[in-house]
Amino acid sequence: MQATDILLNDQVAVITGGGGGIGRAIALDLASVGADIVIADIVPERCEETAARVRELGRQALPLPTDVTDTGQVYQMVARAHDHFGRIDILVNNAGGVSPRAFIEQSERSWRRHIDLNLVSMLAASSAVAPLMIEGGRGGSIINIGSIEASRAAPYYAVYAACKAGMLNFTRSLALELAEHKIRVNAIAPDYTVTPGLRGNTTGPVEPDKWIKPGAAQEDATARRIPLGRPGRDSECGSVAVFLASRMSDYITGAVIPVDGGSWASSGWIRDRSGKWTLTGNLEA
Ligand SMILES: NC(=O)c1ccc[n+]([C@@H]2O[C@H](COP(=O)([O-])OP(=O)(O)OC[C@H]3O[C@@H](n4cnc5c(N)ncnc54)[C@H](O)[C@@H]3O)[C@@H](O)[C@H]2O)c1
Repeated sequence: MQATDILLNDQVAVITGGGGGIGRAIALDLASVGADIVIADIVPERCEETAARVRELGRQALPLPTDVTDTGQVYQMVARAHDHFGRIDILVNNAGGVSPRAFIEQSERSWRRHIDLNLVSMLAASSAVAPLMIEGGRGGSIINIGSIEASRAAPYYAVYAACKAGMLNFTRSLALELAEHKIRVNAIAPDYTVTPGLRGNTTGPVEPDKWIKPGAAQEDATARRIPLGRPGRDSECGSVAVFLASRMSDYITGAVIPVDGGSWASSGWIRDRSGKWTLTGNLEA
């Protein structure tokens, strides 16, 4: 391994939902190792804010406000990005989200919106970008931001969980279809990660002052549930995305990397108040 294998100098990355949370962190981390960044977020001010930070890191930024639930806008965004830079090397399908609700109370309009946001957007961006990567002949890296909810039951998140599960098997299948072109397709599966969306700041600019703060009891329960004892940070997905985009992961495709503090591994085990792991023990002990 060479220390320079991590560098993405002069490569171009398109990041959906790159104006906030995990997508923004990925944008800044990819820029910090040399990539130029296209930010495709639905909120124009968020696109501009991330673009300004990318430029401060010495890289080029192209903010392209886009609603990824509109496939026409996705195709147009990819075409504009390619016209501007002449190449796309990295695609991060990150935009996504969920409004928790019992499935029997959820309208068809709501499930279709979840499917458009979490699944169709990824299909549209991948189908627009992959042919350009093939034409470029340099290979590429597609990184899908999944969720731990793809791999476990998720009450009140059923449609979201189904979309994320679909995303993971699409990741594996597309990895095989694109392998001959040296385009790798992988996924990152976060659990509870502190972002604007997690804190209720889903529209307008990112305003941490207005975020919903968890109470002490909720923080304690989160710390006991997650093996590494704390929520995730958006930059922890950023560093894995850098790895998956770079030559460091040249032999990895069709993989799903949990970035979840060990949550998926724990699969129902939780710490009691004394810190001992339990499945059925007294949680109040
Ligand atoms: N934060 C978590 O705990 C967590 C856990 C598991 C998976 N994820 C996944 O990570 C990804 C990012 O989540 P996050 O927590 O950073 O979300 P977030 O809400 O904090 O940020 C999402 C960004 O996407 C943008 N966006 C929303 N709808 C859009 C649309 N229609 N078109 C374009 N952009 C749009 C938002 O403006 C925002 O900037 C999502 O796919 C989410 O499902 C997050």
